[in-house]
Amino acid sequence: MKIKVTLFVLGIMLMGCREQNKEKPNEIQEVKRYTEQYRPQFHFSPPEKWMNDPNGLVYNDGIYHLFYQYYPEDIVWGPMHWGHAISSDLVHWEHKPIALYPDEHGLIFSGSAVVDKNNTSGFGKEGVAPLVAIFTYHLMEGEKAGRDDFQTQGIAFSLDNGESWTKYEGNPVIGNDGIRDFRDPKVFWHEESQKWILTLVAGDHAKFYASKNLKEWEYLSDFGKAQGAHGGVWECPDLFPIQVAGSDEEKWVLIISINPGAPNGGCGTQYFIGDFDWEKFISDQQEPLWIDQGADNYAGVTYNNTPDGKRIFIGWMSNWPYADKTPTKKWRSAMTVPRELTLKKIGDDLVLTSYPVGQLDKLASQVLAEDVQIAPGTSETLSVDGLNQSQIQFETSSRDFSLTFENDLGETLILAMDSQSYTLMVDRTKSGKIDFNPEFGNKKHFAPIGMLNDGTYQVKILLDWSSIEIFMDGGVNVMTEQLFPTEPYTTLILENASKESEIHLESIKHMESVW
Ligand code: FRU
Repeated sequence: MKIKVTLFVLGIMLMGCREQNKEKPNEIQEVKRYTEQYRPQFHFSPPEKWMNDPNGLVYNDGIYHLFYQYYPEDIVWGPMHWGHAISSDLVHWEHKPIALYPDEHGLIFSGSAVVDKNNTSGFGKEGVAPLVAIFTYHLMEGEKAGRDDFQTQGIAFSLDNGESWTKYEGNPVIGNDGIRDFRDPKVFWHEESQKWILTLVAGDHAKFYASKNLKEWEYLSDFGKAQGAHGGVWECPDLFPIQVAGSDEEKWVLIISINPGAPNGGCGTQYFIGDFDWEKFISDQQEPLWIDQGADNYAGVTYNNTPDGKRIFIGWMSNWPYADKTPTKKWRSAMTVPRELTLKKIGDDLVLTSYPVGQLDKLASQVLAEDVQIAPGTSETLSVDGLNQSQIQFETSSRDFSLTFENDLGETLILAMDSQSYTLMVDRTKSGKIDFNPEFGNKKHFAPIGMLNDGTYQVKILLDWSSIEIFMDGGVNVMTEQLFPTEPYTTLILENASKESEIHLESIKHMESVW
């Protein structure tokens, strides 16, 4: 059966006639629009040049800061700076000037930022609480000379909510005794002990430190040499307390990115659930759990100091084996949508779920299709203009189904669930441009989804110009993948292979551009 979905306004937007600022119609404003091929429309990407990890995620005084690993000279990795953007809603971003530049101690690698409310650092002035960034210095000269102590930790502060930064003259604040990979500090404040706690990674494990003033750090303990995945070097840690949903129980989660060693190749992000007694992180978990089973969610960490206490995560939507080969020209790579993390009890297990923040819902405006029933053993073909910038929601009691996104050139992206192997599968091997690197489109990607429940699955999909994010059951299983279709997908084929169970496509909605 073929259904043509009517579309009202979207065509106009796609043709490029964007409405100007409504509030100030008479003022001439520079309207920044990003419409290059593959440019994400509702994901953060830098205006130009190379970006990798999110850094310094912190909320302060009405502003969510997003700093990021940035090389302003080229679209491949190079001497690292901290790029900067701000948002009041985590959805619309304003690009800011570069926040941190390399200096005599080295390049500025990944790290975090805190609001020093009690002015423990002494950087504050006239009652203004400083924002303090804690990052890794990477000294190229040291690395080239074959030394092992070229990564150290430094700090910088801002007294104008991130507009300008001053490096601490006593840098580095944590030196290096000869650990080759020694980086990516994530810091938070512990009220009870009135101390800052810092987590960083040292090759195959995490290290914890404490400080009263962000300048002098005392080593606490190590975690993880013999636990979790060790297919590659540990990177970008994040330690935080989180309540088990629906209970009073509090657990601690330690996020660790690993490169390589992810289930579908390249790099990925694992997590541990345990307890932290202010000296040690303790977890009896041996096997890795993954925050996202897709190929493209790396180096993700969470916000400090969120106004509503929510645990908000952003990841870099790429993967190191092909990150610098993807077919964009002006800029390279984007972030995942911000996701709220929740710790849920499912059966006997605790699972860290991630789900797009509610603020994104306001972008899902115009309905492109709704209320389509796919009976057992049948399929529906929907032709949808604007499919490539949409949110798709469906409910399925069928465990054997597939969704095929197709364009006029016959390029296809397939998402399928299989009840025999208990897997969710993404097949981007024919999704468009894949030949820029052998590792991008050489195999299908699978996520084991555990024993299938007997009820109904809720599925949310976010499709942008060069990515898909799939959230099963409120984010219990998540897959994030980049894709580069030569032309936008305009057809969606929903196939229900089950003999008795239904699929109900609730809606496909247009996602407004945030630029
Ligand atoms: C992770 C990472 C970090 C490092 C940064 C350098 O992607 O390798 O460990 O700080 O990127 O850009």
